[in-house]
Amino acid sequence: MALTGVSKKYRRHTDRPLATTFKSYLLRDLWSRQPRRDDLIWALRDVDLQVIEGTTLGILGHNGSGKSTLLKLISGILRPDVGTIAVAGKVAALLELGAGFHPELSGRENVIINGIILGLSKKEIRAKLDEIVAFAELESYIDEPVRTYSSGMYMRLGFSVAVHVQPDILIIDEVLAVGDARFTQKCAERMHRFKAAGCTIIMVTHDLRMLQEWCDKAVWLHGGRLQMEGDPAAVVEAYMRDVLLYTPQDEPYATERLARP
Ligand SMILES: Nc1ncnc2c1ncn2[C@@H]1O[C@H](COP(=O)(O)OP(=O)(O)OP(=O)(O)O)[C@@H](O)[C@H]1O
Ligand SMILES: [Mg+2]
Repeated sequence: MALTGVSKKYRRHTDRPLATTFKSYLLRDLWSRQPRRDDLIWALRDVDLQVIEGTTLGILGHNGSGKSTLLKLISGILRPDVGTIAVAGKVAALLELGAGFHPELSGRENVIINGIILGLSKKEIRAKLDEIVAFAELESYIDEPVRTYSSGMYMRLGFSVAVHVQPDILIIDEVLAVGDARFTQKCAERMHRFKAAGCTIIMVTHDLRMLQEWCDKAVWLHGGRLQMEGDPAAVVEAYMRDVLLYTPQDEPYATERLARP
C-alpha cells in the first residue's frame, strides 16, 4: 500500500441557518454577532507513505492532525485532492464509533448492509451472520435499532463484521478503547491471528503503549504533515517530547481564507 504526494482539503463553511426551531431561535443573537467564515483546511498535506504487506502501522498525532482523514483515504471513503493512493486487496475499516452504521436499522440489518459493502455476497453473509453476532456477543440485542447500542456494543459489532470478511488490510480508528477488558482481549487475540496470517493492519491510537506493542512502524502526523516515521519507540519518544512543549497557541491547522463570492 502506498500514498504518493497525498493532500486532502475540506471546506469549512458557516451559513447561518434560519431560526426555525426553538433552539435555533435562542441562538439568533449569537449568530448575528459572529463573522461568517469560508475557508479551506488542508487536513493532509504532501503525505508520502509506504506500508509493507503483512506489517502493522501505527499512526499518532494531536487531535485534528489528519489521522482519521488518512484512514478514510486508504479505505476509499474519501478521495485525495492531490496525489495517488495504491491499495491492493480487500480493505475492512473500523472507523470512528458508529461510522458505517445506520442508527434506525437493527444490528442484523446493519451487518448485512456492511457485509455487502465489503464485498460479500448475500449467501456468504447469511452463512456468517450467526458467527458475527456470536463473536460480538450481541445475540439479545441484534434485532434492536443500533441507536440504542452502547459505545462498546457499536464497537463489538463493527469489529466482528470487519474481521469476518477476511480483509487483506484491516484499518482501525481508535475504537478499541471503548471495549471492556475481556472483549479487548478477544480483539487482541483475533488481531494476532490476522497478523500471523499476513494481514496488514493500520491503526490510529492515542494509547502509546498499545502502539509500541503492536506496530512494526509508526507515523506521526502534525498539522496534516508527516512529521516523523520509523521505529515506534523512537516516534513515541519524539511525540511525547513535543507534547510536553506543546501549547494550544501552536495552531497546527493550515487554513486558507477564501474570498466570499
Ligand atoms: N468533514 C469535514 N469537514 C470539514 N473539516 C473536516 C472534516 N473532517 C475533518 N475535518 C478537519 O480536518 C482536520 C483533520 O481531522 P481528522 O478527523 O482527520 O483528525 P484526527 O487526527 O483524526 O483527530 P482526532 O485525534 O481528534 O480523531 C481537522 O482540522 C478537522 O476539523
Ligand atoms: Mg480521528
